[in-house]
Amino acid sequence: MFISFEGIDGSGKSTQLSMLRDVLEAEGREVVTIREPGATLLSESIREILLSNKQTITSTAELLLFSSARTQLVEMIIEPALREGKVILCDRYVDSTTAYQGYGRQLNMEDVRSCNNIATRGVMPHVTFFIDVAYEQAQQRMQFTPGSAEPDRMERSGRDFFERVRQGYVEIARMDPKRFVVIDGHRQREEIHEEIVALLANVS
Ligand code: ADP
Ligand code: TYD
Repeated sequence: MFISFEGIDGSGKSTQLSMLRDVLEAEGREVVTIREPGATLLSESIREILLSNKQTITSTAELLLFSSARTQLVEMIIEPALREGKVILCDRYVDSTTAYQGYGRQLNMEDVRSCNNIATRGVMPHVTFFIDVAYEQAQQRMQFTPGSAEPDRMERSGRDFFERVRQGYVEIARMDPKRFVVIDGHRQREEIHEEIVALLANVS
């Protein structure tokens, strides 16, 4: 079973992912948790490049770097874990590229689709939870995160960018209602968590 979490930065994805992991592990399931970009040595190195404020990265280079990080992760971790029957919880996956590079950076959607097909090798999540939160609320949450660092390169993209990304997620979810579940992320952590657990009970 492959489950991904999507949403704008600060929407509460990581929080929900770890709450769900605890429940699944308590049930005795073997769970692999992954963050994108990341999880393999190469993908973590690419993550550092992508999030660093040290250099300018063109939108197309950004698309290709996120895609490179992803395909390494798919081949090295996701495909083997799926073969072994493990549950994979992914903090972002291919929909992030459609939302951020497609809708956010406004790259050609056909190019984005082609990159996504190459990078995923056709491996798609069974369920994707889109945690939908307004930009202001997400910003506020990030500001109040203990030990939170300076905004990274992506987080500096500005309000208009994040509004396009959020709208992009709404569109993507609407186009694929079988895989996507839209979650109202403005509520308390526990309430959201209970909804996710209940929804999964119906899927598996
Ligand atoms: P993301 O992974 O989407 O960037 P996080 O899970 O790291 O988001 O959450 C961002 C911040 O908001 C953290 O400080 C987290 O504790 C807090 N947070 C997460 N979910 C909620 C919620 N439902 N209500 C209020 N704050 C939340
Ligand atoms: P991260 O800190 O993991 O996200 P979050 O703040 O939500 O916890 O940073 C990853 C950043 O990269 C985030 O701004 C979203 C962006 N991103 C893309 O633009 N495209 C992608 O394909 C992926 C996976 C992430």
